[in-house]
Parts: sequence; C-alpha cells; structure tokens
Amino acid sequence: MIKRREFLCGAGAAAGLTLIHKLSPIAVAQSVDARVEVVLDETLGTISPNVYGHFVENLSGVVYDGIWVGEDSRVPNLQGIRKELVQEMRKIKPPVVRFPGGCFADSYDWRDGIGPVEKRPRRTNFWYGDEKAAAPDSHRYDPNQFGTNEFVQFCRLIGGQPYLAANLRSLPAEEFYRWVEYCNSPAGSTTLADTRAAAGFKEPFEVRYWGVGNEAWGCGGNFTPQEYASEFRRFTTWVPGYKLEMAFIGSGPDGSNWQWTRGFFEDMVRKSKDQLRTLHGWSLHHYAWNLSRGKTRDWNGGKGDAVKFDPVDWYEVLREGDRMESMITGHWQIMGEYDPEHQVKLVVDEWGPWYRPGSELTPGDQLEQLPTLRDAVFSGMTLDTFNRHSEKVEIACCAQLINCLNSLYLAHEDKFCITPVGHVFAMYADHQGGESVRAEFSAPSVHYDRDGQDASFWGLRGSASLHGKELVLTAVNPGVKDGLTAQIAVRGARVSSAEASVLSAADIHARNTFEQPQNVIPKNENVEVKAELVTFRFPASSVTKIKLHLV
Ligand code: AHR
Repeated sequence: MIKRREFLCGAGAAAGLTLIHKLSPIAVAQSVDARVEVVLDETLGTISPNVYGHFVENLSGVVYDGIWVGEDSRVPNLQGIRKELVQEMRKIKPPVVRFPGGCFADSYDWRDGIGPVEKRPRRTNFWYGDEKAAAPDSHRYDPNQFGTNEFVQFCRLIGGQPYLAANLRSLPAEEFYRWVEYCNSPAGSTTLADTRAAAGFKEPFEVRYWGVGNEAWGCGGNFTPQEYASEFRRFTTWVPGYKLEMAFIGSGPDGSNWQWTRGFFEDMVRKSKDQLRTLHGWSLHHYAWNLSRGKTRDWNGGKGDAVKFDPVDWYEVLREGDRMESMITGHWQIMGEYDPEHQVKLVVDEWGPWYRPGSELTPGDQLEQLPTLRDAVFSGMTLDTFNRHSEKVEIACCAQLINCLNSLYLAHEDKFCITPVGHVFAMYADHQGGESVRAEFSAPSVHYDRDGQDASFWGLRGSASLHGKELVLTAVNPGVKDGLTAQIAVRGARVSSAEASVLSAADIHARNTFEQPQNVIPKNENVEVKAELVTFRFPASSVTKIKLHLV
C-alpha cells in the first residue's frame, strides 16, 4: 500500500535526490507522493536511435501473414508487404530491424531467398516441429518468398536499416562472405552484384550490421565461449567491407551468464588485443519468462499466462524484466576488463516477456501472445533502462515485431491492430537521438504479497532526454492500485509549458484486439506548470511521456 508522504527539501528523500537538493535552490516544500528531479548538465550520452530497434524472425506468423502477404493478396500491400504495417511503422521511426532470426538464422541458406521468386525452393522451417495443426503450410515449409531483397525493401519502406544475422552453425564462413558480397558489392563489380541487379537492385544494399550467428551457446551450435570465439574470428577475418564500416555483432550471453562474456573476451584478447577491433557489438538476450516465484526453473512450467494474471504476476514479470539493468552493468563491467576503452558496445537484440501459449489472436501462430497493459509498462520500463545506459547500449531489438512475443502489432489476413506495446514505441520515439540526462525518481516502493511474504518493487522510474529546448521525460508507475502525484523539478532551465501523453486503463488486463483495437491508446493530459515547478499525477499502472518546453 503506497502511503502519501511529505517531501521537504532533502528530508526523507533517496540519497541521490538529497544530493541534488543541496545544490538546488528551486525545491520547495510541497505535499506530494513522489519527486522527479532532472539535472540538465549531468549528461549520460546520446540515446542511439537504434535502441528502438525491432526483430523479425522467419517464425510462424511473423513474416508470412504478419509482414508478407504477397503482391496478389486482397490485403492492401506495397510490393507484397502489408501496407498498414508500413504506414504504422513509419510513425515510430524504426531505426533498425534484425532478420531472419533468432534460431532460424542458423538453419537459413540466404541463397534460397534470392533470384526469381517462382524458382525459389521450399525448405523445412527451423520451427516446423512445434507448429500447430491450424498453421498454414508456409509456417512449416518456408516458401522463401520473403528473402534478402524483400527484407531490404521492407526496411526501405519503413525507413530503417537492415541488420542481418548470419548462419554460423550450418553454413561455412565462405557463405557468409558471399552474402556480404551479394548485399554490398558495388554495381556491376561481381557476379552476385549482377544477380542483385537482375532482381531490380542495381545499387548495393549497404548492410552494415551483421550478426555472427545467434545464441551460439544454444540453438546456434552449442559452443563453448572459447569455441565460439574461434568461430567468430574465422567468420569475420578479411570479410570485404567495400566502402562501408562493417559492424559485426558477436553472439553474446543469455541473461546473466557472466561466464559466456568472460570466456569469449578472454579468448579473444589471449589471441591478441587487436582481435576485439573486429567486434562492434556484443549481443545480450533477456526474456522475462519465469513467473513461478522460485518454485521451478522449468522452461515450460515456469511460464505464466499472457492475459489471465493476478497483481502478483504483474509485479513478478516486471521484476524479471527489471533484471535487464544489472545485466547491462554486469556484462559491461566484464567487457571493460578486456576492453578498457569500451570500444565494444552492448546490443540487446532480443528482449521482452515470454508467456505460455494460449492467448494468440490467430490460432496456430506459434509463440504469438496477446500484449496487455502489463507488457506496455514492461516495455516502457525497459526502454527507460536503455535510455539511462545510453553510453553502453547501442542497439536493442524488441522480440518480436508482429504476431509473436512482445509484439507491437498483430495481424491476420486483412485484420490488424496496434498493441499497447506498439503505442509505447510511438510515445518513446521522441527520445531517439536526444542527450540522455540524469533524472532522479524518488517514490515509495509498492508492496505486494508474494506467497505469504511481503515483497516490494520500486514506485516510479523513468528517463529523460534533451533535444535543444525540449525535454522528454518518460516514466512508468508500476503500482496497480495507486496513482502518484509527483513534483518535477528541472535543474538548469525554467519550464514554460508542458504536455503529457498517458497510456493506462482501469483494468490491468486491458489489451487491444482486432475487434476492439482502441481499448488501450495514449491520451493527452494537462500538466500543471507553476513558477518553476511542474506537478503531474501518474495514474496507477501507467506509462507516461511528458514534453517540457524550456526557456
Ligand atoms: O524469439 C524467439 C527465440 O528466442 C529466438 O529464435 C531465439 O534467438 C531465442 O531463444
């Protein structure tokens, strides 16, 4: 139960906040539940637009039905790509999209997906074994209608950069080299450039980001970190860059597997310090899946339901997701032992909650789940974490874009809806490219019953970024019962006006469906600005963006 508290200058506030108050002449006594203090001259680095990236795997309904409907479809499309998806994505400024997996990547032969579509082979999809009876054939047997050309076309339509994940487990390094050649060799320079031109793409695709395998500790080959380090070197040595600065991304750890990061980096520098120069980014995957409250570690048994849950499950999934922050700082610290200048950045290219099957809007779509308000709060919390660690995280990709885990959109045939997660991405797009500045949140923790024990979770948290004379502040209130009235102080400028956009609902299970696509949508709210103080009430279970105009 959150208790209303009196905040006086420094008294009773968190340590960080007290420190700021000693410096700040602007704080005044006021009865509020929480305080937010933004310190404009404490910058944390530029927020890479790429942390607002996406992940598209050739998995069940993600590509076929989600993105690709085909040129002859009655579903409005742009060269076979779902038009409504393109239109919606343009609004959220998608910076980068990872494709074709995921586990799928390490079974994929890129040559199957180029050349005339009618000649492309059908192949068994990596995920075919778990497809349900209701799934269409294209989910079991890959028709290869959506290959490299179509993916790059999709990226161009939405205005994002392609990030391709290479097959390290089941293709030789030469094939990686050739895929790069197909994508990037100059017009007319190679046979593969001619093949590309014959498909209508004379100029190179200029793919800069390349994942070197995926989850090499598991589906990507079951390597040890030392074995993978040696494979990584073999795959990336002397790959032609043409005029591009190639950015290779190594297959990093699963969650807090510190040994994987240490083992890999140790092996790389043991060979020679220079080896790390070929590594641009180190990927990190974290799914919040275990809602068993310590009862099991079983991958299936530990999962919770996407739409039927109690408040305890709400907090548990947020707790699991909030481990992201310690994973970022933990891996970063280990990486720094071998790369003190931190040339290698983190790439969180799979993140999100993962629930058990059963909530899918389209029966038969494997791994599809129906995002609720809980997932919106989860996503806001995670994006805020990336913003706060902008000097460490260069790319992040939400898993996955459509018809899958933490999807922004759901679609089937001509039906389409934006999920609460999609709305969060639209709200947070304003952070892209801004200067992340320190924002201290002080609010009472939320308490809840965890199998008879008192458990707690923080009460209000977020991030802030500066864009010239505009400050973008985002925050989530994870408490399911109480709104929080907060006083927001901006140190280093005066606020002339502010407006808020809030995503919330009376029911924590609220979600959007094909029939009711507007259940959870952001609403504009007034923000009180008096003298130098801004006051705002953050509703229970909400995600909020406040734009503050500074003078
Ligand atoms: O996103 C689904 C799967 O989760 C990906 O294919 C894999 O990389 C991860 O384990």
